[in-house]
Amino acid sequence: MSAKPFPSPDLAIVIPTYKERENVTELVKRLREVLADVPYEIIFVDDDSPDGTANIIRDLSREDGRIRVLQRIGRRGLSSACVEGALCTSASFVAIMDADLQHDESILPMMLAALLRGEADVVIGSRYVGGGGIGEWDRDRAALSRLATAISHLIVPNTVTDPMSGFFMMSRSLFEQTSRGLSSMGFKLLADFLATAGRQIRVLEVPYQFRNRYSGESKLDSLVAWEFLLLVADKLVGRWIPVRFLSFALVGGIGVAIHLTILALLFHVAEIKFQIAQIAATLVAMVGNFALNNILTYRDARLKGVSWFWGLLTFVMACSVGAFANVGVAGFLYGQNTDWILAALAGIAVGTVWNFTVSSFYAWRVGRK
Ligand code: GDD
Ligand code: MN
Repeated sequence: MSAKPFPSPDLAIVIPTYKERENVTELVKRLREVLADVPYEIIFVDDDSPDGTANIIRDLSREDGRIRVLQRIGRRGLSSACVEGALCTSASFVAIMDADLQHDESILPMMLAALLRGEADVVIGSRYVGGGGIGEWDRDRAALSRLATAISHLIVPNTVTDPMSGFFMMSRSLFEQTSRGLSSMGFKLLADFLATAGRQIRVLEVPYQFRNRYSGESKLDSLVAWEFLLLVADKLVGRWIPVRFLSFALVGGIGVAIHLTILALLFHVAEIKFQIAQIAATLVAMVGNFALNNILTYRDARLKGVSWFWGLLTFVMACSVGAFANVGVAGFLYGQNTDWILAALAGIAVGTVWNFTVSSFYAWRVGRK
């Protein structure tokens, strides 16, 4: 058998980037040093960073064909970037790591060696296993990280100490097998992967010290926490109820609270006529619900500018029809001698499902693009 003239590399390193122009050159330099003995390739997945990160990577690529960039236009998302990067290589093993040099690249050969020896299915660069550390994080961030790790144990075996790590390696075939079941929501791909792959996966954690960012700033914001909770909910109940619907229903509940607060203020405190107070409360609650859903429920299809106003109009129209359906169903059931609470709840359920389905499709155009 003749040797293949152009074999695919053993290892692909997938690196998500958003505004990392000052970091990529240094990272590539260090990877070259530590991986001198390994046939590898580096795949950056850049979400069209406005600072021109993709162009810098293409410059590096012109000098070294093992480096490439997958530039995604009009998309955002750390997990989905890593998934798409990992699916565009044919290397035997895939590593995921951040671009900002917080992950210690020097443990990569050790991680690969453990996989090659068949000691584990997934190797995690871990901050919480003996010898690892979180570096110079302040107390708040450290506490948040511990809390998130505790919550993640609802969906991930608690023998894994750092399921929130963004630094891990596995065989490409295992990744491929699992990829269709992933939620790919938000920042926490490893937790998503471990929850999807199931408990029979053998995990090895290799300690490292989390470093400070080399340059630029973290992209982690409060929405990341929300996305993480959605991920956990999706893994727990997503089989039966879409998490987008749960989020929509939760926002609906907040809307009722907003409505009642404004009504109480206008009617009781400001002594405005009930009908006018009720109209004002309804309008504020509708706009509030739309705005919140736009941020929380449809993060990945968020409307901006003119489309925001069109979306609002469509949402209001959908919800008006939903209100009729609600009153109709509740009235019918009550007429059939159903308990008033049950009749009202059934009306609310029908109205909410209607509002969700119609506004997903028409206001946020989910599933139509
Ligand atoms: N393509 C793409 N799209 N990349 C992104 C996006 C995005 O929307 N958001 C962030 N990134 C890239 C960043 O450019 C960086 O390379 C990496 O993802 C991690 O982002 P940071 O902003 O540096 O996150 P962090 O340091 O606060 O959090 C990291 O460490 C945590 C602890 O290990 C992440 O790896 C978390 O997943 C991890 O839990
Ligand atoms: Mn970082």
